[in-house]
Amino acid sequence: MDDSRNVFFVFLLITIVMAISAISFCNGNMEVLCKESERRALLSFKQDLKDPMNRLSSWVSGEGDCCSWAGVGCDNLTSHVFELRLGNPEGYSRYKLGGKISPSLLNLNYLNYLDLSNNDFEGIPIPSFIGSLKSLVNLDLSQAGFGGVIPHQLGNLSNLRYLSFENSYERLLKVENFQWISSFTSLKFLDMSGVNLSKAYDWVQVLNTLPSLAELRLLFCDLGHVSYDLPLVNFTSLSIFDASGNQQFGLPKWLFGLRNLNALYLQGVSLEGPIPFGLANMTRLKILDLSTNYLNSTIPQWFGTLHHLEILHLRANELEGNIPSVIGNLTSLISLNLTRNQLEGKIPESLGNLCKLRRLQLRHNKFSGSVSEILEILSGCSADSLEELSFRHNQLSESFGQLVKLESLFISHNSLKGMVHEVHFANLTRLKYLHASGNSLTLNTTTNWLPPFQLDSLILNSWHLGPKFPMWIRRQQHLFHLEISNTGISVVSSNIETVDFSNNSFSGSLSHFFCDKIDQEQNSFVQQIYLFLGNNLLSGSIPKCWTKWKTLSVLYLENNNLVGVIPSSMGNLTDLWALNLRNNSLTGELPLFVRYNTNLMTLDLSGNKLIGKIPNWMGTSLLGLKVLNLRSNNFEGNIPLQICDLVNLQVLDLARNNLSGTIPRCFDNLSAMKTTPALPSIYPYETEEFYMMPDAEVCWNIYMWS
Ligand SMILES: *[C@@H]1O[C@H](CO)[C@@H](O)[C@H](O)[C@H]1NC(C)=O
Ligand SMILES: *[C@@H]1O[C@H](CO)[C@@H](O)[C@H](O)[C@H]1NC(C)=O
Ligand SMILES: *[C@@H]1O[C@H](CO)[C@@H](O)[C@H](O)[C@H]1NC(C)=O
Ligand SMILES: *[C@@H]1O[C@H](CO)[C@@H](O)[C@H](O)[C@H]1NC(C)=O
Ligand SMILES: *[C@@H]1O[C@H](CO)[C@@H](O)[C@H](O)[C@H]1NC(C)=O
Ligand SMILES: *[C@@H]1O[C@H](CO)[C@@H](O)[C@H](O)[C@H]1NC(C)=O
Ligand SMILES: *[C@@H]1O[C@H](CO)[C@@H](O)[C@H](O)[C@H]1NC(C)=O
Ligand SMILES: *[C@@H]1O[C@H](CO)[C@@H](O)[C@H](O)[C@H]1NC(C)=O
Ligand SMILES: *[C@@H]1O[C@H](CO)[C@@H](O)[C@H](O)[C@H]1NC(C)=O
Ligand SMILES: *[C@@H]1O[C@H](CO)[C@@H](O)[C@H](O)[C@H]1NC(C)=O
Ligand SMILES: *[C@@H]1O[C@H](CO)[C@@H](O)[C@H](O)[C@H]1NC(C)=O
Ligand SMILES: *[C@@H]1O[C@H](CO)[C@@H](O)[C@H](O)[C@H]1NC(C)=O
Repeated sequence: MDDSRNVFFVFLLITIVMAISAISFCNGNMEVLCKESERRALLSFKQDLKDPMNRLSSWVSGEGDCCSWAGVGCDNLTSHVFELRLGNPEGYSRYKLGGKISPSLLNLNYLNYLDLSNNDFEGIPIPSFIGSLKSLVNLDLSQAGFGGVIPHQLGNLSNLRYLSFENSYERLLKVENFQWISSFTSLKFLDMSGVNLSKAYDWVQVLNTLPSLAELRLLFCDLGHVSYDLPLVNFTSLSIFDASGNQQFGLPKWLFGLRNLNALYLQGVSLEGPIPFGLANMTRLKILDLSTNYLNSTIPQWFGTLHHLEILHLRANELEGNIPSVIGNLTSLISLNLTRNQLEGKIPESLGNLCKLRRLQLRHNKFSGSVSEILEILSGCSADSLEELSFRHNQLSESFGQLVKLESLFISHNSLKGMVHEVHFANLTRLKYLHASGNSLTLNTTTNWLPPFQLDSLILNSWHLGPKFPMWIRRQQHLFHLEISNTGISVVSSNIETVDFSNNSFSGSLSHFFCDKIDQEQNSFVQQIYLFLGNNLLSGSIPKCWTKWKTLSVLYLENNNLVGVIPSSMGNLTDLWALNLRNNSLTGELPLFVRYNTNLMTLDLSGNKLIGKIPNWMGTSLLGLKVLNLRSNNFEGNIPLQICDLVNLQVLDLARNNLSGTIPRCFDNLSAMKTTPALPSIYPYETEEFYMMPDAEVCWNIYMWS
């Protein structure tokens, strides 16, 4: 959807640009028209570019003002070309420019702004003549697909304020020394993420002399540890430094001298031992991220001095001990992420003082105490701000309650026991995510309970919810992810709604679920639906109201007590690619409607009481079938030759029926059967062996798997 919107937007943009150029074309005496030499420069620049989607369609020779061409900006007074904004804003691949950069750009003597980001120049070097575009203030070559050594001639661009080569994923570029950068006295922003700097040993000395540098981003640059101490650390202008992903980097001592630093990101730089004391002097820090390292001390008392901290992320380390109560001094804190450490004990009362705290993430630790205690603590002033509280995988006991602003409550995999009542949810009006599986809780609500929230995602696996189907869940109108099975983990992607009710004790008829009023309101399903209702105690017949379930893709009703015939209205399920009705007590003939389910890949009707012949049309209508399982029914007659036309068939099981006649010779043609099955992953038998039984004496079995 986004893509089509972008396409539309680009077209809109092009249309607008064309409309503007048409106006200026008609209105010949508009005072601002671009210079003829610059127009010619742009046209020959265009000539060397590859532009598969014709982004530069407004760039045409002849009359007209090149200042209104797509991506071109001119100075208002002099009408010299001032900006070239040819970045591909969404990075959407079809819109990438490529080809060569023509030296005709050198005729744009007043070019101030050059943006070629998110294109694909297929590894060609950055042309050294760019160093002669002396007016450049802003040069953005991020994700542009240039390769090789960055040319030192760029050092002539002494007016640069913004320079980006960011290239996180590719590492096509490298730099051998930083001498050329020393002339950038106005540079404020430098991003070299993903550029290989392993040989550029002088980077600190050089950057240290740049008086204006405020933001330095050097992620994944293969930077080594800079062990030497600088005689005098300048960098006084530096406010944001990110060297995450440089595994050898560590935390060099000279960094502690950067007293004005606001943000320090050192994720995954192999820090080990205690949290370095030198940080205690960096009192201006607002953001400190030392995640994914090997820090193994307690959280020290001196953290209390960092009271400007808004974001403290120490996730994925080996920190131990309690959270010190001095954490309550960090009253600006918005996000505290201590996930995946060895922290233990109870959370300190002082956390309740953090009136701005929005996200508290303490998953995968060893915290103890009860959830009610924690919520009591957090019902201080943090109750007004807290949106996400995550305590998954700890050792908490007891049940939970009340935080008005809470949107996400993650308390899965603790030791929670006991009864949860409606009143526990009374104040959770904004709740969207409730993940609480892996506890032994029982939910006791009235049948007509109307929860105060509308959830997006609900995971209550292993809770005690039965014996009746929890009606309130069906009143959750925005639910896109639901897991309430005993043990299951279900697959979810943005385009698929998975509803997994399998392995419960749901009983009674299916028609309430599929056909009643609430579901009528939901007939606006647009996504594919995967519905699992296997291994329950469902009884009665399969309902007939399938017209509003058109987007159903996967339907599993196996191992229930369903009776009666398979209704013909299931022919409306034209998106269905997996239907599993095995081990019920269904009767009647193989329904004709199946002919219309032409997308079927898996059809499992085994273990029922179906009768009649295997119809000829199976081989002509269901050409996509990979799995056909009719085992253990009462089918009779010959096996139709048309089955041999199911060229994609990988598993065919007709065993334990009353079939007669011979096994068609043409079965040799079913070549997909001779390969190892690459079954749709949803199919439960994917790992099992199957083999051919050529002498099918016993009961006219043909192919079967053990
Ligand atoms: C040109 O004029 C517009 C509107 O008056 C102004 O917003 C813009 O900043 C000016 N551009 C330059 C490069 O002077
Ligand atoms: C860079 O500037 C120097 C001195 O001004 C000049 O000699 C050299 O040709 C320039 N290089 C480029 C690529 O423009
Ligand atoms: C960086 O370049 C050096 C050689 O200059 C090479 O040994 C190293 O593997 C490169 N690093 C990465 C991450 O590609
Ligand atoms: C610090 O910066 C000043 C001017 O900005 C410069 O003169 C001095 O050499 C720099 N010091 C170091 C150690 O680079
Ligand atoms: C912490 O890590 C350091 C360095 O790896 C190690 O020497 C030390 O024994 C560790 N301390 C603890 C308490 O595990
Ligand atoms: C912190 O700053 C003080 C005062 O400037 C200084 O004496 C001390 O050495 C610094 N501590 C560290 C660990 O850098
Ligand atoms: C924490 O705050 C308390 C009271 O506000 C104060 O007495 C104490 O010195 C502070 N601790 C630190 C380490 O800043
Ligand atoms: C906290 O850490 C977890 C685990 O590494 C991570 O998934 C999550 O994005 C982090 N939270 C924030 C707000 O960065
Ligand atoms: C819900 O919140 C209100 C106001 O904050 C409070 O008075 C009430 O006690 C809360 N309800 C429960 C059940 O805790
Ligand atoms: C559920 O709660 C109601 C009222 O609070 C109570 O009467 C009933 O016994 C509870 N049910 C169970 C199974 O505990
Ligand atoms: C249901 O139980 C079956 C058999 O024990 C198991 O293979 C399957 O993974 C379970 N499904 C879920 C969603 O728990
Ligand atoms: C769709 O459902 C309607 C109503 O149940 C039924 O009459 C019709 O035959 C079905 N269509 C197909 C193709 O099965």
